[in-house]
Amino acid sequence: MKFIILLFILVLIQVSNQTQQFTRFKNQCNFIPYQNNIIVQIWGYWNQQQCIQCQPWCTCTEYMGCTQISCPIGHVAYQKTKICIPCPKGCKECKLGYEMNIKSCQECEDGYQLIGKMCVELTVFQIRTSQLKEVYMVYNNPYSQPLNNKFAICQELDSSTSLCSKCPDNYFLNEFNQCEQCPTGCICSQRGTCLYCMDGYFYSPVANENTAILNAGQRLQSGFYQYGSGSCVKCKDPNATQCTPSFSSSCAQGYYMNNAQTQCEPCNVECIACKTSSDNCSSCQNGYYLQNSSCILCNSNTLLEMKCLNCYQSGYCLQCATNMYLSKGQCFTCSEGCVQCTNTTCTMCDNGYYLKSGSCQICAQNSQYCNDETGTPTQCIQGYLLVPDINNTNNLICSQNINNCMMMINSDQLCSQCYPNYVLFQGTCVQCQQKILGCTACVDNNINLVCSSCSSNNQNGNNYYLDINNNGCTLCNQGCLTCSATACNSCLNGYYLQNGQCVECQQQACKTCTSQTCQVCQPGYYLKSIDSQNNCMLCPYGCSNCNPNGQQCSECLPGFILRNNGCTIGTIFCAEYNDSGICKTCMYGFALRNNICVSCIDFTSGYVCGENAEPCNSFILIAILLIQFLN
Ligand SMILES: *[C@@H]1O[C@H](CO)[C@@H](O)[C@H](O)[C@H]1NC(C)=O
Ligand SMILES: *[C@@H]1O[C@H](CO)[C@@H](O)[C@H](O)[C@H]1NC(C)=O
Ligand SMILES: *[C@@H]1O[C@H](CO)[C@@H](O)[C@H](O)[C@H]1NC(C)=O
Ligand SMILES: *[C@@H]1O[C@H](CO)[C@@H](O)[C@H](O)[C@H]1NC(C)=O
Ligand SMILES: *[C@@H]1O[C@H](CO)[C@@H](O)[C@H](O)[C@H]1NC(C)=O
Ligand SMILES: *[C@@H]1O[C@H](CO)[C@@H](O)[C@H](O)[C@H]1NC(C)=O
Repeated sequence: MKFIILLFILVLIQVSNQTQQFTRFKNQCNFIPYQNNIIVQIWGYWNQQQCIQCQPWCTCTEYMGCTQISCPIGHVAYQKTKICIPCPKGCKECKLGYEMNIKSCQECEDGYQLIGKMCVELTVFQIRTSQLKEVYMVYNNPYSQPLNNKFAICQELDSSTSLCSKCPDNYFLNEFNQCEQCPTGCICSQRGTCLYCMDGYFYSPVANENTAILNAGQRLQSGFYQYGSGSCVKCKDPNATQCTPSFSSSCAQGYYMNNAQTQCEPCNVECIACKTSSDNCSSCQNGYYLQNSSCILCNSNTLLEMKCLNCYQSGYCLQCATNMYLSKGQCFTCSEGCVQCTNTTCTMCDNGYYLKSGSCQICAQNSQYCNDETGTPTQCIQGYLLVPDINNTNNLICSQNINNCMMMINSDQLCSQCYPNYVLFQGTCVQCQQKILGCTACVDNNINLVCSSCSSNNQNGNNYYLDINNNGCTLCNQGCLTCSATACNSCLNGYYLQNGQCVECQQQACKTCTSQTCQVCQPGYYLKSIDSQNNCMLCPYGCSNCNPNGQQCSECLPGFILRNNGCTIGTIFCAEYNDSGICKTCMYGFALRNNICVSCIDFTSGYVCGENAEPCNSFILIAILLIQFLN
């Protein structure tokens, strides 16, 4: 699972690293599959000249298109916009409701259990009720140490009950079916026991002042120690695996015991293990062999270059590093461009090379891959397109894409096709607004780029008109929504038209007005006549629109709901309301109780819930309260 997540992260990084990092694979522009035969993601399609990017996780036949989306594990496809949305934590597979924020889990990751369509962490819940009493007793015992609150993910689940059956070393399965940490340095099987100390620890009957005073522990017949009677204490020497309070008795691999038996000292770097002195080696690192307790470099190796990975005691090499071949116990570097060879022939070439009669020939310039027989390119490096050579149109060559082309005619580098939102102009692909200020669409009239449409109708201003004098766009006067060369034709909100000019309304928050009076107010305001003058007054709290007398809301701001002609603040965490404005569905992790959305996992109110779950019984409630208290 971690592996897949890691891969997914790598893939995301690749996506964000931007376009055209494609590897063409069997005539498709695919990301290299991470497991045999499973293609993780189709990145693009081959347009005969280069790879063109699809939307992430999509197959496509057009630029940034999406014919079909298939999301990675832990994600769900939102078909409306063809994107992959992450499932809630712990969900391996989830479904979307009518909106993106309604999710229900179908299957959980390891360490999680499906409860009412949610994935709940196993370490949080799952109570073995028969043992609850014991926990209580442990807790109530004044001599016992407080419950530990360090937990680990369960190592093995019982397939029939989906409860945890095995914990990692140094953890035990507690009364709540959690993997709880044993006391420091201790290997234990249940609360209150210490079977033995881990490497690097020694057993001390008196752990620390607190437990010494309590002195409640007793040694059991089987050699277990009652929790509190003592503890495992870290060896003084960090490299010792066994020790007494003052001596080390054995050392970690890579260290040897000094003569005084007080300290573990490091072996020489070429030794994996040594005895009695740093150079008295008993096993060696890769690339070395053992002779008379010394580690000696294999043949062909130097401290700077390890050509041989593994050799006989004579130094005769058995296995060489990649890019090397073995001959008579020595390693030699393969010829240029070759990644795998025998002493006479290359069997596999690097990218940018092709195999010909056992040796690697360099591919045609700027190719990433080329034909095995001829060396002519089949795919170019980034920034180059595969096009006919202008001097010999039967020949394909890699030509630099200097004009932003989606496709080129030939190696003269002129474009034949542009990406969407680009216009072909004199063999180059250009964006209208970059060439002509305010221009949204333009055409090539064979001499010039001529604007055919200007940016207008923007409520935030910056409106232009098409100016025939300069084939471009000219900015309208202030307040214009649309204009011609001579006059404004319509005005922005808050302006009125007078003699071809847009004049600002006098009243605040007015949307449309005549010279003196406001006629329509901006959203959230209503018109009210005061002293025979029309003013815009703020609608009641939460309204985005209200009726002309300002008494009744007709629309509400986000987060508010319309009820009894007023806008009241909505139900927090609600995802969907019914027609009377009562919450119908809550967001993921929340459940509807008495018309409000409450958290599904709530220690204080004591229940686990989900779509169909019932509140927990009081027994479980006690346990949950207990956990909460102890945490
Ligand atoms: C061994 O001890 C040294 C300090 O004496 C320490 O830096 C090193 O990390 C230790 N190695 C291990 C494996 O604990
Ligand atoms: C190397 O260690 C061995 C014990 O494994 C010992 O018999 C021998 O004397 C040591 N050699 C040296 C040079 O310390
Ligand atoms: C290994 O050590 C023994 C005894 O010291 C010596 O006779 C022998 O020549 C050594 N071998 C090598 C290859 O150095
Ligand atoms: C290459 O290997 C073959 C067979 O292993 C051997 O007969 C030949 O002598 C080798 N040639 C070189 C140059 O090492
Ligand atoms: C085509 O031929 C001309 C004249 O020989 C040469 O200058 C040019 O570089 C050639 N173009 C390509 C793409 O090889
Ligand atoms: C909305 O839900 C409430 C509470 O369940 C219910 O009483 C009411 O009738 C529902 N209204 C509509 C229009 O369904």
